[in-house]
Amino acid sequence: MFANRIQSMGTSIFTLMSKLAIKHNAINLGQGFPDFDGPSWIFNEAFKAMTEGKNQYAPMPGILTLRKRIASNYKNYYDMDIDSENGVCITAGATEALFVTISAYINPGDEVILFEPAYDAYPADVLLAGGIPKYVTLRKPDFGFDFNDLDNALTSKTKAIIINNPHNPTGKVYTRGELEEISKFAIKNNLIVISDEVYEFLTYDDAIHIPIASLPGMYDITITISSTGKTFSLTGWKIGYAVGKPELIDAIKKIHQWTTFAVNTPGQHAMAYAITKLDEYLPDFKKMYLGKRNLMLKLLEDSTFVAHTPLGSYFIMVDIPKAIKDEDLAMRLVKDYQVATVPTQGFYGKSREGETMLRLCFAKTDETIIQGIENLKKYV
Ligand SMILES: Cc1ncc(COP(=O)(O)O)c(C=O)c1O
Repeated sequence: MFANRIQSMGTSIFTLMSKLAIKHNAINLGQGFPDFDGPSWIFNEAFKAMTEGKNQYAPMPGILTLRKRIASNYKNYYDMDIDSENGVCITAGATEALFVTISAYINPGDEVILFEPAYDAYPADVLLAGGIPKYVTLRKPDFGFDFNDLDNALTSKTKAIIINNPHNPTGKVYTRGELEEISKFAIKNNLIVISDEVYEFLTYDDAIHIPIASLPGMYDITITISSTGKTFSLTGWKIGYAVGKPELIDAIKKIHQWTTFAVNTPGQHAMAYAITKLDEYLPDFKKMYLGKRNLMLKLLEDSTFVAHTPLGSYFIMVDIPKAIKDEDLAMRLVKDYQVATVPTQGFYGKSREGETMLRLCFAKTDETIIQGIENLKKYV
């Protein structure tokens, strides 16, 4: 009774771990979103929009004010020229932006290069489009990659490459040198580049986020995706977007009009306002996450779990004792030690490196972080 495409869609390990966290009353360091609220001044704007009657369908690509402010953001932060009229499409989170972009560009049989560990939506969306994921492994300790691996992953069927920068789950922030290599490779081989930058404003130490679309020649071939959910700690609002050259975004809109058609109107008004406050908001936001990252790293220092310091996102990858695999350990931790984590092999399609690590999320209150790591450290 089901369509064939359903066959390759399993239940994700994230869903399973969250269920187990509830069942065993565990501290949840697995879930990849904040356990605290976003700013109340943004809720007030949404409420204001509702009381002002902004409650009917928004235009299909999103309200123009929000598109304009997103475009001006790209100018302010990255000196990129985005056409607010035709170069922005507001979507139901980055999740929808990824789905519609991949559906708009991938034909059955097309190959798509993914860097592993890869956020789980990428292979799922590629498979739903009938495409074939091909993996290039980001290797410990710094999660760099061998440029030759890109050439090795290339075939006559390669259509696109997906990058996630800053990176979930490793916290890697791609260097300019790496982005230049990927750009040269994509341009030379006529590939579409899909760049998921939902953690663009979450970088630490001296890491700088560089959108790959800002590199020479890349505007013409790149779709950049981001999400206000991560930037304003309001993931449940599901307001994301895809930006790029109008011709590229036009193809995406063709799918978007038949999926969600338009994203909730009051939320878009509130986000249009929130973006005008970004300059004031970002320093405290970054400081808060830096504090949480450092707190978790410090607590992990004298533990069996060796942390890979992230330069971006809100995740820390830790090496686990050699005698046990990621999934077995995650099960034991949630059941016997009341702490939920994410086993990382599920992020890999080729290498077995994920079996040696767990992902911890530090978008949590300090109390949750302290209690969660205390529980984790009871495992010896
Ligand atoms: C790398 C990455 N891309 C996309 C998403 C989904 O974003 P949204 O909640 O805006 O759909 C997430 C959420 O965790 C993510 O980590």
